[in-house]
Amino acid sequence: MRAVVCSKFEGPDALQIGDLPAPDMPAGYVRIAVRAAGVNFADTLMAAGKYQVKPQLPFAPGLEVAGFITEISSDVNGLAVGDRVMACVDYGGFAEEAVARASDTYVIPDSMTFVEAAGFPIVYGTSHIGLKHKLNLQAGETLLVHGAAGGVGLTAVEIGKALGAKVIATAGGAEKLAVAERYGADALIDYRTEDIRERVKALTDGRGADAVYDPVGGSAFDASLRATVQLGRILVVGFASGTVPQIPANILLVKNLTIIGYYWGAHRILDPALVNESFAELLAWFEAGKIKPHVSHVFAMDEIGEAMSTILQRKSTGKVVVLTESGAQEA
Ligand SMILES: NC(=O)c1ccc[n+]([C@@H]2O[C@H](COP(=O)([O-])OP(=O)(O)OC[C@H]3O[C@@H](n4cnc5c(N)ncnc54)[C@H](OP(=O)(O)O)[C@@H]3O)[C@@H](O)[C@H]2O)c1
Repeated sequence: MRAVVCSKFEGPDALQIGDLPAPDMPAGYVRIAVRAAGVNFADTLMAAGKYQVKPQLPFAPGLEVAGFITEISSDVNGLAVGDRVMACVDYGGFAEEAVARASDTYVIPDSMTFVEAAGFPIVYGTSHIGLKHKLNLQAGETLLVHGAAGGVGLTAVEIGKALGAKVIATAGGAEKLAVAERYGADALIDYRTEDIRERVKALTDGRGADAVYDPVGGSAFDASLRATVQLGRILVVGFASGTVPQIPANILLVKNLTIIGYYWGAHRILDPALVNESFAELLAWFEAGKIKPHVSHVFAMDEIGEAMSTILQRKSTGKVVVLTESGAQEA
């Protein structure tokens, strides 16, 4: 089958389009004819051998797909050949065929396109459980979202609004902030020209934010410590800045802060029932028009290098998606 082939751990530039054997399908899995696949920063790490999952060479990267089920293991219930689905995979998403655990595979609404579905699971899954269950965000609270025009950040803006919070978005530059505003942010901070702490205090009558969603780390995290209320909560989601924050315990103590780490990729295996419940609510919100996946760039699978550099150069907002040949023909 045609696939994006990683034959050496030398990063995105060394990826090539080629042929790989179709993957074996173990018990508990389904086979999917891939139409579209979401591109993540993690894919660039996996292609460089720097991700926690390091598959045997050669392999196809790609962590989330959308397409049709073409085959089902005999022990799988509740899914059928021909179902339109989205799924998370350990790797192998940038290929014409992928196999996914049935528990990681979700039937999508008829009104959801494969492009929307391909970039849906990771970012919406992370922000929904992260905000609702880990951060315990309440209606009426003020939520500060960093990286608010990026993949996970933009879904945190939407979901924060859906949960009834007032959302303050931070991003670099007017264009990115305009996207966050379109997706519901109540207030905007351009961290390139504005001081996050001062602006948050000004926007909250001096109180600070009740909760923070942080996929950026670095100086954004440091600002969050000072921009939160007493008893505030900070959700650590990622380190897009490249700097893993060192947490000063004295500030935690003095402000009674709670800092929570969240890694959805591991949590979805640990608690599939919660993930099921989470996707049920998200897909109901999608059908009700409450959330609307934002995909700023769509490429052919052959253009995977360009797709990855769009993310690495911070040109994307929301998600970047690649289409297989059949996905492109049908789109
Ligand atoms: N914990 C989890 O389960 C989970 C799930 C998904 C993703 N993540 C992690 O969350 C982070 C963000 O993922 P994403 O999919 O939202 O990525 P993304 O779409 O690339 O967005 C990241 C955002 O971070 C900001 N940023 C600040 N400094 C940056 C830098 N030096 N390089 C690149 N971006 C920078 C950018 O916004 P500005 O240009 O506005 O600054 C960008 O919009 C990554 O570290 C990812 O691995 C974690």
